Amino acid sequence: ANSAGFDLTDPAQLDRIDVARDPHRQAEFSAAPMLAETPAAAQTEPGDGPAPTPRPSPVDPADVPGHVRDASPADIDAALDAAQVWSAPREERARVLSAAADLYEQDFGALFALLAREAGKTMTDAVAELREAVDFLRYYAARLPDQAPLGRVTCISPWNFPLAIFSGQIAAALGAGNAVLAKPAPQTPLIAARAIAHLHAAGVPAGALQLLPGGGEVGAALTSDPRVDGVVFTGSTATARHIARAMADTLAPGAPLIAETGGLNAMIVDSTALPEQAVRDILASAFQSAGQRCSALRCLYVQEDIAGSFKKMLFGAMDALETGDPWELGTDSGPLIDAAVHGRISGYVEAARTEGRVLHEATQSGPGHALPPVVIEVPGIGAMEDEIFGPVLHLATYRSDEIDAVIDAINARGYGLTFGLHTRIDDRVQHVVERLTVGNLYVNRNQIGAVVGSQPFGGEGLSGTGPKAGGPLYLPKFTRPETPAPGA
Ligand code: SER
Repeated sequence: ANSAGFDLTDPAQLDRIDVARDPHRQAEFSAAPMLAETPAAAQTEPGDGPAPTPRPSPVDPADVPGHVRDASPADIDAALDAAQVWSAPREERARVLSAAADLYEQDFGALFALLAREAGKTMTDAVAELREAVDFLRYYAARLPDQAPLGRVTCISPWNFPLAIFSGQIAAALGAGNAVLAKPAPQTPLIAARAIAHLHAAGVPAGALQLLPGGGEVGAALTSDPRVDGVVFTGSTATARHIARAMADTLAPGAPLIAETGGLNAMIVDSTALPEQAVRDILASAFQSAGQRCSALRCLYVQEDIAGSFKKMLFGAMDALETGDPWELGTDSGPLIDAAVHGRISGYVEAARTEGRVLHEATQSGPGHALPPVVIEVPGIGAMEDEIFGPVLHLATYRSDEIDAVIDAINARGYGLTFGLHTRIDDRVQHVVERLTVGNLYVNRNQIGAVVGSQPFGGEGLSGTGPKAGGPLYLPKFTRPETPAPGA
């Protein structure tokens, strides 16, 4: 894990990132082949096909890192016809996925640049994201199953991890020998195209991996066509339900849906917690990536006895967060993904302000669609709206004799993705572990950034179908169950 071979303290490597961010020198990386062998060939090339639309950067809407034309119904039909399972031997598939990981690493300058420009990632997040993508490729490559593939698998990925989740889904589906139809989020097709170019260059056959950019209509077409044999999806719970209904109506009954969806993630800080450590971990959990992680902390419960001093420390630390230039290594948090999201979340914060529920709002904001980190008071998780996907932390207090009621309230929401606990009482850790329904539970640390292999990631209940990504049970889901040999 964490094997990507770049070092941001190396001046030569930093220079390559500078090349990538300099608009006058960008030709050095944007000339890379994009999808040349697929039916979707022209889709990310400006000027080809009907009405390619610009992809403005969330950091600076005047900066346009590229253009994209969405896949048309004819493109989708042709891609489904052209799709071919990857019949190469398992060892060959593993070799190709590992070679793709090498290409990702070698291309880090351009990938960081695209992550920053197209997705608004800070450098810290871009580094972590490339590592995670490379880890997925290598982790799955080392564990490819022998069983037969499902066939054609649609991979629908989100904009918040446009390289890591995009590549992780594809690596698993492809590694198991499936033909992949990849639909990236409409906000981040350029990063997707660059990743696909690396996978093809490494040796993935054109028919085994095709990119179909677009929004909900493309997703709907790729999840309601009888030629599709399985779907992997990361995104909202509502969209997952929609996909499940479409699949039930049109796909073969056994076609699996592997979905990782939303959360309403909580953390409990009790009176024995180390406040400095808890504050640091809360800032990372709630505000890193501008809160745009499905793992992010949304509802913080602080024990009443320490709440006064704890809030003071937390709010002071919020004011010290760096929310400036995403290219600077010291920047803690970048912008929201686009103007629509910014408008929606600003409206939510404004409503809370009107109601007098804003406890603290950071003094600083960043460029583009940035929103200052904010803390909003709530009586408890039961009173919260569903996931607000931004730098908005909700805070409640509880009395020490209410901890079971707090756990019950968290469980009652029906989600089960991440949870954080700060305590120095071992029995309490055990008690919470036994009582809480959750996918990833973190003790005395932050609750984001699951590491492939050592922290398989995924939720229960409304948060997803499982199996966890980056864990041993994930790949077998992409194969046909085999009847055991007689006597086995
Ligand atoms: N896998 C990511 C994390 O752990 C969430 O999307 O933060």
